[in-house]
Amino acid sequence: MRCDHTPAWQALQSHAAAFRSFDLRGAFASDAHRASALSQLAPYVFADLSKNHTDTVTEALLLALAEQTGLAVHRDAMFRGEPINNTEGRAVMHWLLRQPPGPPSTVRAELVEALAQVHTTLDAMLAYAEQIRADARITDVVNIGIGGSDLGPQMAVLALHDLVIPGKRFHFVSNVDGHELAAVLNTLRAENTLFLIASKTFTTIETMTNAHSALAWFRAQGGQDVARHFAALTTNVAAAAEFGIGTTFGFWDWVGGRYSMWSAIGLPVAIAIGASGFRDLLAGAHAMDQHFQTAPLAHNLPVRLGLLDVWYRNFLNYTSRSIAPYHSALRRVPAYLQQLEMESNGKRVDRNGQAVPYGTSPVLWGEPGTNGQHAYFQMLHQGTDVVPLEFIAVKKPTHGLKDHHELLLANAIAQAQALMLGQQDPGGHRHFTGNRPSTFLLLDELTPASLGALIALQEHRVFVSGAIWGINSFDQWGVELGKVLARDIHTRILSGNADGLDASTASLLQRVR
Ligand code: F6P
Repeated sequence: MRCDHTPAWQALQSHAAAFRSFDLRGAFASDAHRASALSQLAPYVFADLSKNHTDTVTEALLLALAEQTGLAVHRDAMFRGEPINNTEGRAVMHWLLRQPPGPPSTVRAELVEALAQVHTTLDAMLAYAEQIRADARITDVVNIGIGGSDLGPQMAVLALHDLVIPGKRFHFVSNVDGHELAAVLNTLRAENTLFLIASKTFTTIETMTNAHSALAWFRAQGGQDVARHFAALTTNVAAAAEFGIGTTFGFWDWVGGRYSMWSAIGLPVAIAIGASGFRDLLAGAHAMDQHFQTAPLAHNLPVRLGLLDVWYRNFLNYTSRSIAPYHSALRRVPAYLQQLEMESNGKRVDRNGQAVPYGTSPVLWGEPGTNGQHAYFQMLHQGTDVVPLEFIAVKKPTHGLKDHHELLLANAIAQAQALMLGQQDPGGHRHFTGNRPSTFLLLDELTPASLGALIALQEHRVFVSGAIWGINSFDQWGVELGKVLARDIHTRILSGNADGLDASTASLLQRVR
């Protein structure tokens, strides 16, 4: 049943009206167990949800909403490999990439062959990663890809910086802006460079343009052995071969671009941290998959976060969520989550193409703490909009710099506290209303496994809100129009033909020529 037609939705609307007087400070004062009741341990991730604008009635109604919209049925359909990406007629099985090899009983009979292919490809890719790690002549690895073929591997290589093999540098070129590629090429020598051309489709204009320029540069530098210096990561093996790349690691159409870092797209990560580190990343994500699949909904962290997202978006009208990773190695996590959430759930029609009358994806944004505190946190504390903040902190540092980590963690906890408590200065500029919501995610340490679990948690919470909204979280038609028009404008920039264009577009066209 569509979510807004369920009894739970109606009840949540009434509950939200009553909720205007809710105050976090009062909620803690009247319930000594609030912190523990609204905290949850999931694999590798502890979550404190208690500083959110929810109470036990909200939780119960959201769980009823999950029941009435068939969330568990939809989740189980994904894990059965059904074609839940209905607009593209595809299954959604990034989770299978994290499934360990095992007796056929561990997956449905129909998926045994797919799982075998996953492991054959994984073994080959990890053997290649080890070969590159052992090859001292390769000092620079350049990943050329965009969107899901860039953000995941880039985010993970940065996050796991402490484990990255010494003696190799990793570069990520995504933008078609030649300034980006030129700046990287200027630092390279052809004989020491490995280019990874990462593109699910192998047709994306930015990636293909950069790949052709990289190949031309390689040849101009006297490079000849393309097989040794270029590898392709793609589902379109034929296009990679046509491009002239023989070393290809494939994946499948049932892996969405923004869900692909677990596939061959993860090769830069595997080269950076090694085969066993990459297997640990997969194992951490798998642990979260199992939690999502088996934990009762009331104690299922992705479910609780996804339901909270629905509550905030549709009932309290909070239209954005800010991500604050209090760990500089997690600095690309906000960008990664932006694509994950906004490309998945930024949809205005349901799975049947009918316009929905309720809001879907929130706007996601953020910067690492403590930098954000000295920039936009002003607005979070005293602005007119309420923006739920999601802290991500790591208990143990990997550096030996005295005092820094305690100070960092103190800031994270204090910000969550300040947002909630506020400060009295009625009528004055030092007044903080407080009662501002936040979620606090805490990892014990930042390892491949904990990173895998954290990212899988985010994937599944996006699944949950998308499922409640009844949208297809696994297509991205909204990016197509701009691609088509860019081709047309590109031709016109070259020719100068502005015929039939609107006045603004025509004028800009003439100005850039
Ligand atoms: O245009 C959007 C998109 O298709 C993303 O979904 C994807 O991650 C990105 O482009 C890159 O696509 P590809 O891996 O096929 O080059």
